[in-house]
Amino acid sequence: MDVSTDTANSAEIQSVLARYPDATEDQLITLLQEVQDACGYLSRDAILSIGRHIDMPASRIYGVATFYNQFRFYPLGRVHIQICRGTACHVKGSKAVLDTLQGELGVGANQTTRDGVFSFEELACIGACGLAPAIMVNGELRAKVTPESIPGLLKEYREKVEAV
Ligand code: FES
Repeated sequence: MDVSTDTANSAEIQSVLARYPDATEDQLITLLQEVQDACGYLSRDAILSIGRHIDMPASRIYGVATFYNQFRFYPLGRVHIQICRGTACHVKGSKAVLDTLQGELGVGANQTTRDGVFSFEELACIGACGLAPAIMVNGELRAKVTPESIPGLLKEYREKVEAV
């Protein structure tokens, strides 16, 4: 857990909680959504703060939050890659693409590289089966991706974000 990131987000967390002074467990999903919108993800500090605010144990909050795909527990990289692991993409070799991606980045799914540039997650079908294997990079569809294309693709996006 990156403690400095937690500290940096505490103002955003408190600002969301201040809008719900009388919140109860019934508002848990709303609080999780708003804190994630404000911070980009749900940090440990966010979960603990929400728990104190509505008097609910962090373990129960994690239990609820992990049930929903919409919640994320790690900060996104500047380049966020979503790799489709649906059936059509699997048949066309998405596992090899995934393995190459992990090898190149040195992190697993739902993690962010130490330099904060890349993060990636696995998704079910992203609706582009005819273009399998498909991935999304910062919301852009990349079709018929191969393991061999991954190093060049990462270089392309690293250069893009470093140029900004
Ligand atoms: S299975 Fe990958 S886009 Fe549908």
